[in-house]
Amino acid sequence: MIISLINQKGGVGKTTSAHNLAYALGEKNKKVLLIDFDPQGSMTRILNISNEALKNRKTNYEFILDDDIDINDILIPFNKFDFMPSTTQLTSASIQLIQSGDFNTKLREKLQPLKEDYDFIVIDAPPSLDVLSINVLCASDSVIIPVETNYLALEGLVLVLQTIGSVRDSINPELQIHTILPTKYEQGTLHHQDVLNTLKDDYGDFVFEPIKKSVQVADSSLEGMSMIEYNSVHVISQAYKKLAEVIING
Ligand SMILES: Nc1ncnc2c1ncn2[C@@H]1O[C@H](COP(=O)(O)OP(=O)(O)OP(=O)(O)O)[C@@H](O)[C@H]1O
Ligand SMILES: [Mg+2]
Repeated sequence: MIISLINQKGGVGKTTSAHNLAYALGEKNKKVLLIDFDPQGSMTRILNISNEALKNRKTNYEFILDDDIDINDILIPFNKFDFMPSTTQLTSASIQLIQSGDFNTKLREKLQPLKEDYDFIVIDAPPSLDVLSINVLCASDSVIIPVETNYLALEGLVLVLQTIGSVRDSINPELQIHTILPTKYEQGTLHHQDVLNTLKDDYGDFVFEPIKKSVQVADSSLEGMSMIEYNSVHVISQAYKKLAEVIING
C-alpha cells in the first residue's frame, strides 16, 4: 500500500508525519519504504545523509528518469525502514518529466514493482501541487493531509482536496483520503480549538486526533530521530503510533 503525505502549504508537518509514520509502521514489524520526494530534501537531511554521500550515490532523480537504474544503488537501509533520498536535482527531473510526455504517472510506474517488496511505501511530498506532487497523488493508494490548526490552513485544505478530486476523476480512481491530520495543535488556545471543531464539522470522521505542538519535534529531528525514537512515551509519539495502528487495521 502506498500512502503519501500531501499539502501544498509549507511547514505543516508532512515530513515529520511521514518520518514518524514510517518508523511506527516499521516498529510494528511491517516492511516499510520511506521516500523523500521533495527537492528540498528535508527528510534526507534529518536522516543525516551528507552531501558527500549523496554525490556518490543515486537518488530519486535517477529513480524517476533512468530506466536502467539498480534500485539497490538508491535504497539506504535504516533500522525500521528503507529510505530513498532526494536532492535539489529532483526539481530538474520535474522539467524533464514535463518534456517527456506521460509525465503524471512516472512515479506510479516506477513504484509498481516495489509494491510487492514492501507492506507500506510512505511518500513525503513537496509543498506544491506541481508535477512532482501530481506524480505522488497518481502513485498513491491513500493520502494523509496534515493541516495546521489555524484558519488560514483551512483554505489551503480546500485546494488540496480539489486536486485530489481531479486526480481521482482522471488518472487514479482508487485514490482514497485516509486522514486529515491536524498538526501543531495548542490545546489551550481558543483559536486552535475553533479550527479543530470546524474541521470536525466539515470533514467528520476523516479528522484524526490532533498532533500537539512541541519543541521536542525539532529537537528529535536535530538528533536525526523520529519523535518515537526520541521520546516514545510523548503524546505526539503515541498519536503517530495510533495512526500507524489505524492504517494497519484498515
Ligand atoms: N507537532 C509539532 N510541534 C512542533 N513543531 C513541529 C511539529 N511538527 C512539525 N514541526 C516543526 O515544524 C517545521 C515544519 O515541519 P515539517 O518539515 O514536518 O513540515 P513540512 O510540511 O514537511 O514542511 P515543507 O512543506 O517545508 O516540506 C519543522 O521545523 C518541524 O520540526
Ligand atoms: Mg517537508
